[in-house]
Formats: sequence, C-alpha cells, structure tokens
Amino acid sequence: MDFELSRHFAYKQRVPELTTAAINAATRYCAVLGHPIRHSASPVMQNAGIEALGLNWRYLAYDVHPDQLHAAIAGAKAMKFIGLNLTVPHKLLAVEMMDVLDASAQTWGAVNTVRFEACDTTGKWLPVGAFPGDVPDELRTVGYNTDADAIAHSVESDLQLSLAGASVLLLGAGGAGRTAALKLAAAGVAQLFLVNRTAAKAEAVAEEIRKRFPAAAVTVGYPNQPVDLAINATSLGLDPNDGALPYDPKTFSLEHTRSAYDMIYRPAETNFLRAARAAGCKTANGLGMLLHQGAAALQIWSGQPAPLEAMHTALRQNVYGS
Ligand code: ATR
Repeated sequence: MDFELSRHFAYKQRVPELTTAAINAATRYCAVLGHPIRHSASPVMQNAGIEALGLNWRYLAYDVHPDQLHAAIAGAKAMKFIGLNLTVPHKLLAVEMMDVLDASAQTWGAVNTVRFEACDTTGKWLPVGAFPGDVPDELRTVGYNTDADAIAHSVESDLQLSLAGASVLLLGAGGAGRTAALKLAAAGVAQLFLVNRTAAKAEAVAEEIRKRFPAAAVTVGYPNQPVDLAINATSLGLDPNDGALPYDPKTFSLEHTRSAYDMIYRPAETNFLRAARAAGCKTANGLGMLLHQGAAALQIWSGQPAPLEAMHTALRQNVYGS
C-alpha cells in the first residue's frame, strides 16, 4: 500500500469522527488566519454552524505571518474561498488590502471578516457562497468588521442591560479597548470612564470619541460615582496564576457597580470577575463576543441567520469541555 494511503487509513481508524468522506470536489472553504492560531476556537464553532446550516463548506485555520498576509488573502481568493476571518495581528493590516470596505470596517478601522464575491453574467457582484455551481473567475474581496457589534450585543444580552444611557468604566485602551470604547459611545452610553496603564492611550481614545461621538461624556480616570457596568479590555487575567486585578482597588470599588464584563473567556472566571461576583455584580465573560462576531461572519458569508445555539454549544464544549 502506498505510504500516503496507509497513513490516511490509520488516521481514519484512530479518529473515526474526523472522516473525510463528506468532502468532495464541490466543497467550499472558509478559514481563519492569525499568527499564532493554534488556540483558536473558531474552527469548531464555525464548522458546527456550517453543519447546522447543511452547507457543503469547511472552516480551516492557518498560521500566517503578517508578511504573508497579502499572499494568503490572494491565494484564498484565487481558490474561490467563501470567506476569511482575521485575528491578531492582521485586523489593521488587512484594511489596506481589501478591494472594497463595508461601512462596518470603515467605521471601526479594522477588518476581521472577509467575504469573497464573484461577478455574475449580468455584472452583479454576489457572495461566492451564493453560486450553486461553478464560480465565475472575476473576484473581489470585501472587508467587514463584526467585532464591534459583537461587544455591544454580548454585553447587552449576557448582562441584560441597555447600553443607551448607561454609565460605564472601561479598563484598557489597546486594540480591543479602543474598539469597545468607540462602540460604547456609538451605542449611546451616557458616561464613559476610560482607564489604562498608559494614560496617553486612554487620552487618545477619549479625543477620538469627543470628535466622533460628542453626545457621550468621556472622562479619563476612575468614576467618583456608581457605574452601571465595568468592562475589562486589558490582557490582565489571561494568566490564571497572576493575581493582578485590572483596576486599582484602592481607587475604585466594584461594590458600587451593577454589572461586570471581562473580554477574556479563558479562564472562564478571571480575578476581575471573581471580585465582581463577590461584590454582588452580575457578571459575564467574553465568550459571547467570540460567538457573536463569528455568527455575524457566517451570516455575511451565507446570507442566512446563523444557528447561534449550535455554534454556542460547540464553542462551550471546545473552550470549557462542557
Ligand atoms: P488587545 O488587542 O487584546 O487589546 P493590546 O492592544 O496589546 O491587545 O492591549 C492590551 C491592553 O492590556 C492595553 O490596554 C494594555 O495597557 P497599555 O496600553 O498600558 O500597554 C493592557 N495591559 C497589558 N498588560 C498590562 C499590565 N501588566 N498592567 C496593566 N495593563 C496591562
């Protein structure tokens, strides 16, 4: 027996659930590109969604160095992929690489979802996924951002609070913190307090909000009043052995806070969320953000409502084993 075949046979024997039987010449592909990528829960979540929609698609993950991002997107386009998700460190780089930017990518200045579109015989651009047979050869990339909406969606549905009119303390002004701050302001938050280790970055975000969303009252520093919501958008909490909190407990108390949201989802309960729970806050972690950005991407590619329950179950099982 040919080596490749024997290896394939042995693989199928060992992992029967990973059968390749259903993949055929009509199978279409989506993928997430990142560097690194091995931690990504997106393939499990998206493949569960794809299966629930009954599509002959597969969702893969590729470790792509930023220097190769342009080539990787061009390759996926040439191979008539359905679409891509982009994660760290590609989201800003990709903005310049798209043929077309959707309003969402223009508003938030980052691309986390790419849809490949093909030109049909009438000159109309349609998603590659909309062609039942052969896909025409003239293709283009359209860049979207589903991250910002996912933050608001997850906070509002997981904590059952309305952002419009709320007062919010946001910890962190890196990439995720900036997007969250702008989205909160766009969602009608009445008062926004920004705190970041490097204060200049919080100042820069505050300045951007004042220009773009003047209705939101934005302050750099801790609130001296109770707030409806505190959000952790720093990376403090990712390491479960690090006891550090993302806020200064001498300056700010969670006792005066109704709800707390941590963008981190692994571990499920960070020190921040543990402290918030002990203080009586309603709490939620960032798994919902991951779910909603992925669900929106699947909807953009397929034109169908995403099967949230199937995606959520697969995600939970992958991340928490339950
Ligand atoms: P992401 O894209 O996930 O937001 P990032 O842009 O690197 O990643 O941002 C990381 C955030 O965590 C920043 O707000 C960072 O603070 P600085 O802007 O001062 O770097 C914050 N952060 C990381 N390590 C921290 C630490 N040890 N103490 C306090 N804040 C920290």
